[in-house]
Amino acid sequence: MNIVVGVTGGIAAYKAVNVIRGLVLAGHDVHVIPTEAALRFVGRPTLEAISRNPVHSDLYEGVAEVRHVAIGQAADLIVIAPATANTLAKLAHGLADDLLTNSVLASTAPVVVAPAMHTEMWQNPATVANIALLRERGITIVGPAVGQLTGSDSGPGRMSEPDDIVAAALAVVGPRDLAGKRILVTAGGTREALDPVRFIGNRSSGRQGVAIALAAAARGADVTLIAANLEVQAPASLAVQHVSSTLELEAAARAAAANADVVIMAAAIADYRPETVADEKIKKEKQGDTLQLTLVKNPDILHGLAHSRPAGQVVIGFAAETEPDRDALLAIGAAKAARKGVDFLVVNRVGWSEGFGAVGNAVMVLSGAGDIVSESAGSKAVVADAILDLLA
Ligand code: CTP
Repeated sequence: MNIVVGVTGGIAAYKAVNVIRGLVLAGHDVHVIPTEAALRFVGRPTLEAISRNPVHSDLYEGVAEVRHVAIGQAADLIVIAPATANTLAKLAHGLADDLLTNSVLASTAPVVVAPAMHTEMWQNPATVANIALLRERGITIVGPAVGQLTGSDSGPGRMSEPDDIVAAALAVVGPRDLAGKRILVTAGGTREALDPVRFIGNRSSGRQGVAIALAAAARGADVTLIAANLEVQAPASLAVQHVSSTLELEAAARAAAANADVVIMAAAIADYRPETVADEKIKKEKQGDTLQLTLVKNPDILHGLAHSRPAGQVVIGFAAETEPDRDALLAIGAAKAARKGVDFLVVNRVGWSEGFGAVGNAVMVLSGAGDIVSESAGSKAVVADAILDLLA
């Protein structure tokens, strides 16, 4: 898809780089149009390097190519992130005094804007009226989120997270092939408390699970995300339940799975938990040079869900393995798929520098019988869509 990304002059312009990156990684041809003010916050070489295309901002350059209308006419989608109060006002009133606003005016493509400004500006009656007008005309408004602003203040006005903007933007033009499906996704890694300040955990960031939840929502699904200690922000656009331990995740997942069409267990679950949790901080003086911990087995949530599922429910598990040999990895995956009783098992390699926390991923999806049904690699958003393609 040919996507125009407009970047306007707010401090959140530096985060626009990740919006551009997300769209490029999702396989799109991205053309960035910064305003002059945006270029004070982020440099043209950065925008060119990330978008992999030349970046134009001047209305009076390339006049022979009639650039001020050509870019907008060629666009399949326009995303403006961040969108300042000033640019929103211009869009609402059809003003066109720079390359970006000309391009929007000359385009029939869907427009998605991610406002970013201080709370007072966002709540100003002028902005409120402009936003209402834009919404009425079918422009999609993403956010803003509530949170820390540029200064010491916080409130509504912070630009939505780049991944949320990418997902919302692609949802506007993407397939709605999961419309009406209720999908439960678990993400993150469970933690088992040792004492009030310590836990046993794992390095799962939750990125892949969140990417799946966002992609499923973008494709029309009604998503519940059970989030265990995410390293990334939980998307504000989704119904999120926060849990920490395996037993908490089990209780939440059982309840949510009862009326789900699909269960996707992307969370990394602690297989064992301490037999006892100390009420007070464990002290070195009392322990000496070694500390013995007794761990007891946690329930296998996926196995339990797969074996007690309502008729017609699809259950997908994950297997993060350190096995370097592909055939051996496949054999482990096939055995795990059968043992767990899942319809699909998403197998990926993890290691000190692979998988957990990484931006990209590479997976093989096995059927319940252990056959490879799909392979994909790329950003976690690309991998998420590949898994959902299978489901759809
Ligand atoms: N899983 C689960 N409950 C557990 C352990 C794992 O629901 N107690 C789920 C994970 O969410 C994942 C799948 O099972 O979808 C595979 O997890 P993994 O840790 O690879 O499998 P284990 O059964 O723990 O096997 P291993 O001995 O290889 O760790």
